Amino acid sequence: MDKANLRRRILAARAGLSEETLRTSAAATRELLLDQPWVQMAGLVACYWSIGTEPDTHGLILALWKHGATVMLPVQRPDGDLDWAVYDGPDSLAPGPYGIMEPVDERRGVDAIRTASLVIVPALAVDRSTGVRLGRGKGSYDRALARVGPHTPTVALLHEGELLDGVPAEPHDQRVRYVALPGELILLGHP
Ligand SMILES: Nc1ncnc2c1ncn2[C@@H]1O[C@H](COP(=O)(O)OP(=O)(O)O)[C@@H](O)[C@H]1O
Ligand SMILES: [Mg+2]
Repeated sequence: MDKANLRRRILAARAGLSEETLRTSAAATRELLLDQPWVQMAGLVACYWSIGTEPDTHGLILALWKHGATVMLPVQRPDGDLDWAVYDGPDSLAPGPYGIMEPVDERRGVDAIRTASLVIVPALAVDRSTGVRLGRGKGSYDRALARVGPHTPTVALLHEGELLDGVPAEPHDQRVRYVALPGELILLGHP
């Protein structure tokens, strides 16, 4: 299956998830991540402000912030790349050009992600054997993840059934080290 078809299939499956499933999945993923010492110890976390049926990050971001972590969220640039700005509580966000909430804080630049000690990204699917990530088709996170060093943990948040045997990949596609499913955090074994 090509990328476009796989994206359609996954988005259709996501459209069938109930509010209840979205809520319980988010809570399970949040608790699982917050239980990890390497998550608790991360001083600067790059995350994303979820929309629609994406694995919800709002509670996770609030908890990380309350625990004292600095959380950076993406600010979409017109060229498809991601700038970063710091979340400073529920009142620090405003709708960006695409309607997605973005921090109103100063832009830290596309390279700010290099300094994160933990990177949490959205994905539609991840390849179980290679860690290759499928996004929504803009390549924004391919550009962002390309700047992240090899020792920084990267985590894609998925719904059940989105960790797949075989995801179409092009040379620019970036990998993640972990996937977090509701109730299961998986360290991928790729080199
Ligand atoms: N490092 C990069 N620099 C510039 N453009 C990129 C880069 N990585 C990806 N892209 C662009 O993003 C487009 C979409 O990438 P794709 O991998 O299909 O999307 P996604 O990762 O969102 O699923 C690619 O066709 C490519 O032109
Ligand atoms: Mg890609």
